[in-house]
Amino acid sequence: MRHQVVIIGAGPSGLLLGALLHQAGIDTLILERQSRDYVLARIRAGVLEEGTVGLLRRAGCAARLEREGLVHEGFALNFAGQHLRIDIKALTGGRTVTVYGQTEVTRDLMEHRAASGAPTVYEARDVALHDFDGPNPRVTWTQDGQSREAGCDIIAGCDGYHGVSRASVPAGAIETFERVYPFGWLGVLADVPPCSHELIYAGHERGFALCSMRSNTRSRYYVQCRSDDDVKRWSDDMFWDELRRRLDPAAAAQVVTGPSIEKSIAPLRSFVAEPLRFGRLFLAGDAAHIVPPTGAKGLNLAAGDVHYLSEALIAFYEDRSEGALDTYSARALDRIWKAERFSWSLTTLLHRFDTSPPFERRMQDAEFALLRSSETARRALAEGYVGLPY
Ligand code: APR
Ligand code: PHB
Repeated sequence: MRHQVVIIGAGPSGLLLGALLHQAGIDTLILERQSRDYVLARIRAGVLEEGTVGLLRRAGCAARLEREGLVHEGFALNFAGQHLRIDIKALTGGRTVTVYGQTEVTRDLMEHRAASGAPTVYEARDVALHDFDGPNPRVTWTQDGQSREAGCDIIAGCDGYHGVSRASVPAGAIETFERVYPFGWLGVLADVPPCSHELIYAGHERGFALCSMRSNTRSRYYVQCRSDDDVKRWSDDMFWDELRRRLDPAAAAQVVTGPSIEKSIAPLRSFVAEPLRFGRLFLAGDAAHIVPPTGAKGLNLAAGDVHYLSEALIAFYEDRSEGALDTYSARALDRIWKAERFSWSLTTLLHRFDTSPPFERRMQDAEFALLRSSETARRALAEGYVGLPY
């Protein structure tokens, strides 16, 4: 068995890369460790940059997103009881974001791939990468108890933070940069109308809170919690009480409570691996970097990588030159580090750091005061939020 490109992982990165390459006539095989249903059960952020929507459109996967996605022209910051709207459309010359769950993006990409007839192996166990330091890499795996092998020109490692691709690179060839934040996010999904038609990011002395949504009838809320917290400790009532305490009174009064349909705790981490190319192996998405969820950059950053990688691979197959492959890592990393800076800075502004000296608290106050008084500061925040152009 031989394919031009073997993609490891059927998360949003692997599926979007597969769709863009398929459209360019490049033959791909996707190997995914989990089942389709398992992948679709993961709940993640839900704010898409215009660039991400554009890529999904180009891949032919944006029809439902364009029908059901909610276009947002702004978001709100709550800070120590004060309310500040960031008018992203006015501040960025007309750009907006689209609220549409990552789970739905993944579902649309999976259905598109199935309809295209391009091969995907779910529940591929023991995936291993071989010979990617030369022109004929191979991938082996176990499927229904049988050993399988595929040769290829290129391996795309789109298998997330815990995947096998990054782990297959010799330790001396890769450098990693990491910050683990001393708290987590407790998230609740509920079939209740959102408390506001725009997202609210709240910094409060009890900790951060976020009001988000999946639709006009389904809300997604988060509160900052301890890193070692146990989700079983949190009843729905405790969650709703804590959320309302952290919002300004007007927003708190609008919160409609109801039974949670999902409740989970996510850790917060910033992480970048460099470089992203190792011979014929390329890393993209969460395999290469993690951002804390503040600002919802994870999926958007993955889409940026896939944009650069698909361009490089299409150029490689058009003229058989390695030139385009050579530039992928630097192009993608330039955008990645800027988004890392954005996510780190919004996280630092809005969270409670128990160990912070009073000086750091004053820095948070000063940054919020600057956002209130300076349109330039608000514009910088809005530009980061809508995402850098490719
Ligand atoms: N073999 C095959 N597949 C694997 C392996 C492996 N050894 N290890 C992991 N995978 C699969 C995972 O099961 C998962 O479905 O790779 C996929 C990676 O998907 P994601 O973790 O969603 O990563 P990515 O596609 O890069 O998406 C980035 O998703 O994680 C969020 O915050 C992130 O929003 C961002 C986006
Ligand atoms: C979400 O809707 O889950 C979400 C939205 C915005 C964020 C993070 C998560 O910054």
